[in-house]
Amino acid sequence: MPNEKIWRDVDTYFSQSLLQRDERLDAVLEANASADLPAHDVSPLQGQFLALLCQAVGARRILEIGTLGGYSTIWFARSIGPEGCIVTMELDPARADIARKNFVRAAVAECVDIRVGPASESLSQLSLENPAPFDIVFIDADKQSNPQYLRWALHFSRAGTVILVDNVVRGGAVADRSSTDPSVVGTRFAIELIGGEKRLKATAIQTVGSKGYDGFVMAVVQKDNSKGQ
Ligand code: DHB
Ligand code: MG
Repeated sequence: MPNEKIWRDVDTYFSQSLLQRDERLDAVLEANASADLPAHDVSPLQGQFLALLCQAVGARRILEIGTLGGYSTIWFARSIGPEGCIVTMELDPARADIARKNFVRAAVAECVDIRVGPASESLSQLSLENPAPFDIVFIDADKQSNPQYLRWALHFSRAGTVILVDNVVRGGAVADRSSTDPSVVGTRFAIELIGGEKRLKATAIQTVGSKGYDGFVMAVVQKDNSKGQ
C-alpha cells in the first residue's frame, strides 16, 4: 500500500513521544520475530491502548482467545493490578512455550493462565469451571471461528464487559459480501451476530500504523436487553 511508510513513520513518532521505552517488551517482540511467529503481535501503541482500556474500566479479569507469543497478554497482565488474572488460549504448543518464556521475561507469569489446544475445547473446559465473568474479552485467534468465539465471549460476560474483536478489516474484504475467504466469512458472520445481538452495543474502528491497514470491533454488554442510545 502506498501510504504504509507514512503510517509507520507516524506510529514511530507517536510511540517515541507517548510510550516509555521498555526493554522487556522490546525483548518479547524480538523473541517472537526470531522464533518466526507471524508478525501478528499488536503494535506497542495498540498494546498501550489495551492497557489504558484495562485501567479505564478497572479490569481485573481478562479472557484472551489467541495468545501467539503473548505480547498483548503481557500488556493486559501488567494493567490488571496484583489481584488480576488473565486466561489466554493458544492452539499451538510450540507457540505456547514461546509465550510462557515471554511471561517469565516480562515478570507476569504468576497472573497468566495459559490454556493450550483448540480454543473451542479450552472454552468448553473453562465453562465447566464456572468462572466469574470477565471484564474484557479479546478475540484474536483464527478469524474463521470468530462467530463461535463471539458466542463464548457473551457466555463469559456480565453487563459492562468489553468485547474486542481484532483484525476485522481483512484488507478491506470485510465489506465484500461475495468473499469466500474463511477469515472474511467468519468475521462478517461475527459482525452480523454482534449487530443483531440485543445485549451488545458495538462499533468498529479502522486503523493504520506500523501494522498496516486494519481495525477492530469494540462491543459492550448492555445491562438490559436493549441497545439503548
Ligand atoms: C492476522 C491475525 C492477527 O491476529 C493480526 O493481529 C493480524 C493479522 C491475520 O490472520 O491475518
Ligand atoms: Mg490480532
